[in-house]
Amino acid sequence: MAQHGPDEDGLSSVAVRRGLLCGTALCTSDLSLQPLHHAILQDCNLVTAEYEMKWDAIQSRPHIPDYSAADKLVAFATDNALAFHGHTLWWHEAIPEVYREGSDADFAEAALQHLDMTVTRYTGRLTSWDVINEALEPAHGREDGLRRSRFLDALGPDYIATAFSRAAVLDPTAVLVLNEMGLEYDLPEAETKRRMMLSLLERELARGTPIACLGIQSHLTALEQPREHPRLRAFLREIGRMGLNVMITEMDVSDHLCPRDQRRRDAIVADTYRAYLDLVLDESSILAVSTWGFTDGSTWLNSFRPRADGAPQRPLLLDRALRRKPAWHAVRKALLRVNHAAGPAQPDPGAEPSH
Ligand code: G3I
Repeated sequence: MAQHGPDEDGLSSVAVRRGLLCGTALCTSDLSLQPLHHAILQDCNLVTAEYEMKWDAIQSRPHIPDYSAADKLVAFATDNALAFHGHTLWWHEAIPEVYREGSDADFAEAALQHLDMTVTRYTGRLTSWDVINEALEPAHGREDGLRRSRFLDALGPDYIATAFSRAAVLDPTAVLVLNEMGLEYDLPEAETKRRMMLSLLERELARGTPIACLGIQSHLTALEQPREHPRLRAFLREIGRMGLNVMITEMDVSDHLCPRDQRRRDAIVADTYRAYLDLVLDESSILAVSTWGFTDGSTWLNSFRPRADGAPQRPLLLDRALRRKPAWHAVRKALLRVNHAAGPAQPDPGAEPSH
């Protein structure tokens, strides 16, 4: 019998015992699927808009903002006492068509108006905002590592301070997050990006930019993401020394390099989740852990990272039939694990039978 609320052995119940939020990204189309709706409520106390709260989705018709989908998602969270993570106010990949060309002055006016209108609309109802998404792109050659984007062109490097300062005034209760991709990888370019992120945060915090939290997207690849990752540990410790919290904002584990055999694939994916979460929970003050979709039926990875053998990806915690996979158990074990920083987790009434 599906429950309407959190399962006492579910992920959010375990997360709460550690003072964490645990959740997923969803779309309004997910809300009409009752079984999925219930599965999310059993395991999640946090939800994020996968795409319907982005500028291009809200302004899909020029100059006519439509918040109806975003409103539905926020209402779902409010009605079910879930935290809501807003995603995302300014992202170079979510600029409405009508504003991609035109003058910098017009773009700046439109971007600022969108930010003001959107933050004001939900003020007091969102736990946190991805104010800016993917600000860095070292390959663009700037010394500060900033991505060359319309935001940078129109508002200059101050665009980050501008966005966070305005959001802080309009919604003083929301945790303001700078969200980034690729900080978690074990690659030379990822280390460059980590260094540039530390410099960016140092500069912005020194000038008083109200960034409270670093969002680490965490789109991982099984058999590529290392179980041990000293450079990531060192980076997370630096972030902690700056007094910043961390949110794991978009976690999933692509299995495109894994063997086709489902049991082996699921085991490798689960181990990747476990090792990654053990590391980040050890090294950071984590506010939330969110996956990017909750079941294998709703992953962006089938289009972004299709498997060579054509088999559907199995990157998330529940399978297409909403059954809990080894990855679900792995995440639960990581959430239960004793964290030296936060003290021991509470005893687990619903411990998974040991294999
Ligand atoms: O559902 C509508 C459909 O009704 C419509 O006919 C169709 C044609 O426009 O669009 C469909 O919506 C698409 C939606 O995905 C659902 O599939 C949107 O166009 C499409 O833009 C949207 O893509 C999202 C993408 O960001 C761009 O916003 C993906 O769902 C989402 O997973 C992806 O998420 C990003 C994060 O925001 C940032 N980090 C990387 C991550 C993956 O790219």
